[in-house]
Amino acid sequence: MEIVIADTPDAVAGIAADILAGYARKGATLGLATGSTPLKTYQELIRRHQAGELSFAHCHAYLLDEYVGLSREHEQSYYRTIRTELTDHIDIADENVHSPDGTTGNPMQAARDYDALIAASGGVDVQVLGIGTDGHIGFNEPGSSLSSRTRLKTLHPQTVTDNARFFGGDEDAVPFHVITQGLGTIMEAGHLLMIVTGAAKAEAVAAFVEGPVAAICPASILQFHQRATVIVDQDAAAQLQHSEYYRYALDHKPEGQDF
Ligand code: F6R
Repeated sequence: MEIVIADTPDAVAGIAADILAGYARKGATLGLATGSTPLKTYQELIRRHQAGELSFAHCHAYLLDEYVGLSREHEQSYYRTIRTELTDHIDIADENVHSPDGTTGNPMQAARDYDALIAASGGVDVQVLGIGTDGHIGFNEPGSSLSSRTRLKTLHPQTVTDNARFFGGDEDAVPFHVITQGLGTIMEAGHLLMIVTGAAKAEAVAAFVEGPVAAICPASILQFHQRATVIVDQDAAAQLQHSEYYRYALDHKPEGQDF
C-alpha cells in the first residue's frame, strides 16, 4: 500500500481528484463510494469539469452499495445521493451510472445480478473507498468473509448510529439491510483509492494499515491488493506507528514507480 499523509481534508481531496482525473481522461470505469468522506473530492472533480478541464463522457461508474427498501427517489438512497453529489454535475451519461437495486422483492438476486454486471462490464479500474469507524469498506461489516461477493448484509449497530446523521439523527429511519459489493468483488478493481479524514477514523486507519489482515477489520484486506493508495489527513493518521516512514518513502519514491 502507498500511504499518503496530507495536511488537510482539502489536500486529501486534491490528491484523490488528481488520481481520478487521470482515470477519467482514459474513459475508465470508476467505482464510487457515497458517505461524507469523498464529497470534497467529488466537488473538486465537478469544479474541474465545469472549468472545462475534465470530461467523464467516456466513463462508466459503479456504486459500492445501496440501502435495501429505500426508493430510488429517496434522498438518502445511494442511487439518488451519487447523482446529487456528483454525476448530475458532470458529463457522464446517466445510463452509465450503476448501483445495486435495493427496491426489488429479491435483494439477494439483485446482489448477484449486480456482481455479474460489474464482471461483464470488464470490471472497475479505480475504486474509491471510505472506511467506517468499525473498519468496514462498502458495507462489509466486521466478520465479513474476506472473499465475499456482492450480497445482502445487515448493518452493524455502530454503522446505523454513524449514519443516522443522514436521516435527521433518527436511527430508526436507517435501513438495517443493505446490498454491498463483497470484499472479493472490491479486490478485483485495478486500483483501490481509500480516502480517510478526521480523528474519529484514526483507530480504524491504524488497524487496517498496520494491524493483521483479519475479517474483524474488513479494510485490512487492502494489504493484499497490489495497487492500493491510502490518502489520509493528519488527524486520521494520528495513530499510525510508521507515519514518518510513509512520508519518507513518498519523498524517496523510485522514479516511474507508482509505489
Ligand atoms: C459508502 C460506503 C461506506 C462509507 C463509510 C464511511 O458507499 O461504502 O463504506 O465509505 O461508511 O462513511 P463516511 O465517509 O460518511 O464516514
